[in-house]
Amino acid sequence: MTRAHLTIDPYFTVGTVNRRLFGSFVEHLGRGVYDGIYEPGHPTADENGYREDVIALVRELGVTAIRYPGGNFVSGYRWEDGIGPREQRPRRLDLAWHSIETNEIGLDEFAAWLRKVGSELMYAVNLGTRGVHEALDVLEYANVPSGTRLSDLRIANGTPEPHDIRMWCLGNEMDGPWQLGHGTAEEYASLAGKTARAMRQVDPGLELVVCGSSSAQMATFGSWERTVLEATYDDVDYISCHAYYEPKDGDYASFLASAANMDRFIESVAATADHVKAERRSTKTMYISFDEWNVWYQSRYRGERHTRIDDWPIAPRLLENTYSVMDAVVFGNLLISLIRHADRVTSASLAQLVNVIAPIMTEPGGPAWRQTTFHPFALTSRLARGEALEVKLDSPTYTSARHGEVTVVDAVATHDAGSGATAVFLVNRDEETEAEIEIDVRMLGEVAVRAAWTLSDKDPHAANTLEQQDRVRPVANPTAALSDGTVTVSLPPVSWTALTLG
Ligand code: AHR
Repeated sequence: MTRAHLTIDPYFTVGTVNRRLFGSFVEHLGRGVYDGIYEPGHPTADENGYREDVIALVRELGVTAIRYPGGNFVSGYRWEDGIGPREQRPRRLDLAWHSIETNEIGLDEFAAWLRKVGSELMYAVNLGTRGVHEALDVLEYANVPSGTRLSDLRIANGTPEPHDIRMWCLGNEMDGPWQLGHGTAEEYASLAGKTARAMRQVDPGLELVVCGSSSAQMATFGSWERTVLEATYDDVDYISCHAYYEPKDGDYASFLASAANMDRFIESVAATADHVKAERRSTKTMYISFDEWNVWYQSRYRGERHTRIDDWPIAPRLLENTYSVMDAVVFGNLLISLIRHADRVTSASLAQLVNVIAPIMTEPGGPAWRQTTFHPFALTSRLARGEALEVKLDSPTYTSARHGEVTVVDAVATHDAGSGATAVFLVNRDEETEAEIEIDVRMLGEVAVRAAWTLSDKDPHAANTLEQQDRVRPVANPTAALSDGTVTVSLPPVSWTALTLG
């Protein structure tokens, strides 16, 4: 039995948990859009072809903002292909995913879907094969109320109200050699700066995200971030981070420690941003938009890449990662890392939402179901309210091959002064041994344990599938008990737990 100790004090705050931390991402990729959120022939489809069963699950997931339309896809995308009468929209080659894009869904349709879902739109412009002009055009089409060529075109296309998109990404993963239009940091920094300044002529209040690194490894020494921020610091509000984690060569101990890598990534990007801030004698804080994060078995779940140009499919099954209990535990731990850095990470997007490395899966003409990762996201989005707290954690440690020495138990807490509710999120990274944790809650005053849920399974590789859609879900943890200002709770091996007090 591992023993760990946690102290919670509502006065030790890190920062307010921004609701945008519970964002997600929908890319025109595989079955994310077509046969995912949109399937006109499906029994639950509404009059516009959106699956109501998927909408219900997206709402239950508690997704606050959704990044769209890519991803790698955006670097070859012409946004105007996706507006106006459907029968006139062109089919195009999508070079990112070797697929045919039908353009049945574009900006207006996606924004309409988001209004049904109740989430905010975060839009990425193409700075791979396009530039300032096209970014200004899509901004005019989306946000100008009326009286200009493109805003009037939006109205003529059936959307009288502007979409009023507040958050804009200046391209996607421009540091990646796989990206269409990839160049040097200097080239991207110059284009991003010009685009940001031009967009802010239209609306100085836009929130702009400049591309940081595509992974923690690519951020080594922060040279991309530094070059990009030196050229754009005054013109943008966020720098992006992307990170995906997977077990390598059966090394689950390192995989279970992935959040330690995310912690370091965030802290190193924040340090680079603060260095540029100091150099410029700026008073502005650069925030982080962690706008792609997840577990993704990149080697196993990619899908077939079609090479013959006459053979490219529409909405193929790509990146359809089935998630296990262990994946969900790592995933829940990544959420803990994001909350722990609530002072710097004020926006995040789980990549992605439906079918493509997603918490929600669908079958054409059939059901939609929750993957294991759905559960930590939904519970964290629901319960993590108010301020993120700096907790004091004493836990045994272990040394992982890839991420060094990490604690066996990891934890974060949030406290909402308005309702008095406190939420504690915990993981046990040990593959064999149960952990018992004592949580000192005396500083919270008179509280009771309201609920405790744990996600675990005798088989850490168990998953939810089309055949067994509800095999894995969180269950009430009966061990949670409060006595003399101390909560004790047992955490099974490879488990994620959410506990509420109030
Ligand atoms: O989310 C899948 C892909 O991962 C995105 O298109 C890209 O931005 C990242 O490399």
